[in-house]
Amino acid sequence: MKPALYVSRMLPPAVMASVRERFRLTAPPVSEVGPSRQAVIEGMREAEAAITTLTEQIDDEVLKVASHLKIVANCAVGYNNIAIEAARARGIVVTNTPDVLTEATADLTWALILATARRVVEGDRLVRSGAWSGWDPNQLLGTEVAGKVLGIVGMGRIGRAVARRASGFEMPIVYYSRSNGDQIPAKRSGYIQGWRSVSLDTLLAEADVVTLHVPLTTDTVHLIGARELSRMKPTAFLINTARGAVVDEAALVTALREKRLAGAGLDVYEQEPTLYPGLAELPQVVLLPHLGSATLHTRIQMGMICLENVSAVLEGRPAPNRVA
Ligand code: NAP
Ligand code: GLV
Repeated sequence: MKPALYVSRMLPPAVMASVRERFRLTAPPVSEVGPSRQAVIEGMREAEAAITTLTEQIDDEVLKVASHLKIVANCAVGYNNIAIEAARARGIVVTNTPDVLTEATADLTWALILATARRVVEGDRLVRSGAWSGWDPNQLLGTEVAGKVLGIVGMGRIGRAVARRASGFEMPIVYYSRSNGDQIPAKRSGYIQGWRSVSLDTLLAEADVVTLHVPLTTDTVHLIGARELSRMKPTAFLINTARGAVVDEAALVTALREKRLAGAGLDVYEQEPTLYPGLAELPQVVLLPHLGSATLHTRIQMGMICLENVSAVLEGRPAPNRVA
């Protein structure tokens, strides 16, 4: 008999083909809208392994019904949706999908940086509206990013990939990371000579573009709040492709309304898919629907990594991407 696997959401066909070949599904994976909490609980009940996504809250109430469960393979690098301590206490392995989504997410971060600074979405809207009256010397003037200071909060895999891309724009890099008390030696882990480790306050004061790449943890909830936003230059842009709750959205909307910040590019939100009131009305904000890793190639790799981790645990081997 094939092992029982719960897959919360439909993954790309190549991944699902492999799932169906090797496992017996406890419930049909859902498409487009995520499963209800009750559906997750029911899917987990008989499962020996689960592949979940960032939209499902896997807490102790869910884990306690899953008496056969050995592994939760989260199909994301972030795993703030999983109660890690509860899983650990129940002896359930938790894994994530690092590395394979780094380049896709760094690319999307740059799409947001450029779209925000150069008012790409406003321009697109103007052309489509039919109201464009032709070239005008004062129309939709934006900001060059070349030569400006890029501030990276969270210099991990994605932060470094974003920083590497900045060399083409000749942007000096300042960064703030948990383990950056001392300057990290050049060439170690992809760091490049000249990137400058600074305090968060210095980064906020110096950077023309601040981009966030920390995981969501108890330490990073509202890491960027009213005080931090007030330290940024009024000409600066804030980019968030990390997790919504790293930014206090209420404070962000106020800062943008009061023009204490030039603009923001967001891929993630505090209460996805709900937007903070007033955010969508701000023209200087570019809003994406959590697309960081959304390329077919990356999503296939993420799914395959989940399957590798599930197989490893069910076969009694160490999970390659264990986080708990
Ligand atoms: P990573 O390699 O673990 O990098 C995270 C970095 O943040 C590390 O350098 C870490 O420092 C630093 N950090 C952790 N806690 C911190 C704190 N309290 N203060 C300052 N720095 C702190 O992770 P990654 O692969 O780059 O992914 C980062 C995050 O991006 C994920 O957790 C996820 O939430 C988000 N993400 C979003 C999308 C999307 O679709 N928008 C896609 C992928 C990832 P240390 O080195 O000291 O641990
Ligand atoms: C996406 O947000 C991820 O954490 O992989």
